[in-house]
Amino acid sequence: MVDLSPHRFTVTTPLYYVNDVPHLGSAYTTLVADTIARFHRLQGQDVLLITGTDEHGQKIQRTAEGKGLDPQTHCDQIVQHFEALWQALNIQYDRFSRTTDPRHGAIVKDFFARVWAQGDIYPARQQGWYCVACEEFKEERELLADGHCPLHPTLKTEWRDEENYFFRLSRYQSALEQLYAERPDFIQPESRRNEVLKFVQQGLQDFSISRVNVSWGFPLPCDVEQTIYVWFDALLGYVTALLEPGEEPSLDRALAQWWPINLHLIGKDILRFHAVYWPAMLLSAGLPLPGAVFGHGFLTKDGHKMSKSLGNTLDPLALVQRYGSDAVRYYFVKEIEFGRDGDFNEVRFVHILNADLANDLGNLLNRTLGMVKKYCQGQAPQATTAEQAPDNPLRILGLALSEKVLTAYHHLAFHQVCEDVFALVRAGNKYIDDRAPWSLFKMGQQAAVEEVLYSVLESLRLAAYLLAPIIPNLSTKIYQQLGFTLDFNDWPSVAQQAPFPQHSQWGQFPLNSHFAPPQPIFSRLELPADADVSP
Ligand code: MSP
Repeated sequence: MVDLSPHRFTVTTPLYYVNDVPHLGSAYTTLVADTIARFHRLQGQDVLLITGTDEHGQKIQRTAEGKGLDPQTHCDQIVQHFEALWQALNIQYDRFSRTTDPRHGAIVKDFFARVWAQGDIYPARQQGWYCVACEEFKEERELLADGHCPLHPTLKTEWRDEENYFFRLSRYQSALEQLYAERPDFIQPESRRNEVLKFVQQGLQDFSISRVNVSWGFPLPCDVEQTIYVWFDALLGYVTALLEPGEEPSLDRALAQWWPINLHLIGKDILRFHAVYWPAMLLSAGLPLPGAVFGHGFLTKDGHKMSKSLGNTLDPLALVQRYGSDAVRYYFVKEIEFGRDGDFNEVRFVHILNADLANDLGNLLNRTLGMVKKYCQGQAPQATTAEQAPDNPLRILGLALSEKVLTAYHHLAFHQVCEDVFALVRAGNKYIDDRAPWSLFKMGQQAAVEEVLYSVLESLRLAAYLLAPIIPNLSTKIYQQLGFTLDFNDWPSVAQQAPFPQHSQWGQFPLNSHFAPPQPIFSRLELPADADVSP
């Protein structure tokens, strides 16, 4: 990942359409973005996590009309569902950017003026098939045999023929090709990069950035009979988000502190907008480009993209309310290799959480603290790294773990993070079984008992620390049972009691711990009676 500045990190989720309440697909990007933001906060960086909503355009206008509401009232209602979900999922966002925020209008106007001054906007006729659900014109060759959009196979595309204003994308063909060549990390993962390269190689066409018959949008500065195309407006929502709360809006002020953004996280369906249109718009306005665009895969249900138009979505709020935020966060981060599609299955969900969080992690903590109470009179076992046998398997794994896991985080390989950390946790369980501290205790080998227990507790601490960006509440419970008072949702307490990089390394467990009475940290989950148990 490009580090534009070592001290600060800005990451965005897409600005979600408010045509409906959020579904699991939108929750997925946001919980991953939060994990990334937390990873950077853990390292002591200043972080800005931007999320928000995309509220203009025909799709929203029609949805509001369908409900008999004026569009703003409709948007205000839906936004509350997003905010409630982010709270339930324990998302620490810094900015919630709404494209109907009046300050956003000022930013769009400033930006439009720059692009206009470059001579990159001109009037022309637009003809083509339009998918309102995508808010995008589609090439005839992209459509299904029945003329429907492949991403919204239940919805008809609509023929459009109107005078619009165009953005001169074609002018940026070679600048974009140079960008992709010079910064191979700009588009991730590799498969998405190849997709974009192929698309750009075919030759870039100018695209229309205004609409005639859509009233729900900002008026086009050069022709107030038209409104600004929703995507031109929405991408700039990332910039508006950079304004301080209450700050007078201007493009220069918005860009002063946090620009350029380090990472845009998006789903693969909106790759072109972010990896082609957006950098071209920024080049036109003479602005530095973001660090990277990562296009992740789709969540599918029974092999189909979860989408509102297909009606196969899952209510993320219900899932969080039933199983808890850490459970939901852990499942998606561990189960789906970031960048690939992943299927959701509730039986598997429950199975994985019980196996990893309840059994491997939770039981290990519980049984170890139980033994500390019994065999060490509740005092911290004494066995610093230096006193551990060189062949102590936990020490060997633990010493190598930090570098491995931090590298995996930097590469956004979260499933790898979980795999590496749980290799240590499972080794902890095995080590206890192999060394049987209860027998060592009976034989009077107190030093050996303490070495075993110390190294297991240190494994648990290290695992909790490295997993804190993913399961902050559970990590907090583990740290607190080990005698710390910090909370992984409260960054000053983390900086004070578990500073980075020390705590990401093996050997930090304090020898003078006062343990809280052991308590189960994660209760086994039960499948609801109505769960779909088909494989
Ligand atoms: N409003 C635009 C984004 C503008 S960004 C300046 C938009 N909104 S969306 O609500 O339709 O989609 C938001 C994100 O959710 C996209 O990244 C999309 O890929 C993602 N997902 C929608 N369905 C999804 C799944 N089934 N699985 C994973 N992500 C999915 O596009």
